[in-house]
Amino acid sequence: MDLQTISVYDRSAEQIAAQHKMLVPARIYQLVNKFFIKGGVCADVGCGIGRDSAWLSKQGYPVISIDASEGMLQQARQLNPNAYFIQDSLPLLKKQADFSFTNVLCSAVIMHLIDNQIAYAVTNLVRIAAEDGVLIISFRGTKSKDHRENGKLYSVIEVDKLVALFTQAGTTLLHSEIDYQEDRDVEWTNIVLKKLPLLAV
Ligand SMILES: C[S@@+](CC[C@H](N)C(=O)[O-])C[C@H]1O[C@@H](n2cnc3c(N)ncnc32)[C@H](O)[C@@H]1O
Repeated sequence: MDLQTISVYDRSAEQIAAQHKMLVPARIYQLVNKFFIKGGVCADVGCGIGRDSAWLSKQGYPVISIDASEGMLQQARQLNPNAYFIQDSLPLLKKQADFSFTNVLCSAVIMHLIDNQIAYAVTNLVRIAAEDGVLIISFRGTKSKDHRENGKLYSVIEVDKLVALFTQAGTTLLHSEIDYQEDRDVEWTNIVLKKLPLLAV
């Protein structure tokens, strides 16, 4: 993980929480409704304030919410006192050793990884998914020349290369799109993948 990014999330968790509460990722929720396996256990990797975890719970998904930032997890616990949170980080997701998730959401997280960590992150996101499980991955870039915004890293991720990594890791691409968020002048790349059964890889 990028320690500088996590320390920004830790230090500014309260302020970021106030912003994130106002943002509703409508497109991600549409993708969940279309592609996630109904009622299957979800991992919300990089859950932030747990807004999406709370929404998933309301839709009937059991959710485990994972984040590297203790500050963000504290905010998330306040918002969802009954949810299940784990402090763990990409690229390794070391604490997710024994469990497979039917659905994996990793929204607005992987661009915060250092370049050479992204392939490991892909391997481990696929590892924690169950066979035939579905992964929704969303990321954005930045116009900032040093690839940082308020200290947070936004690595450049080429979607073709990312999809190739996911394919090598044993998934097949179900959907890929660019979603332009007008109010923030930001382009999100959203991809949806399905983990292939081991015999098919
Ligand atoms: C932009 S927020 C996204 C939160 C939420 N998924 C959403 O879409 O609103 C990014 C979150 O990813 C977490 N994060 C950043 N790098 C991470 C890493 N390497 N492993 C796990 N979480 C990470 C941050 O702490 C932060 O809570």
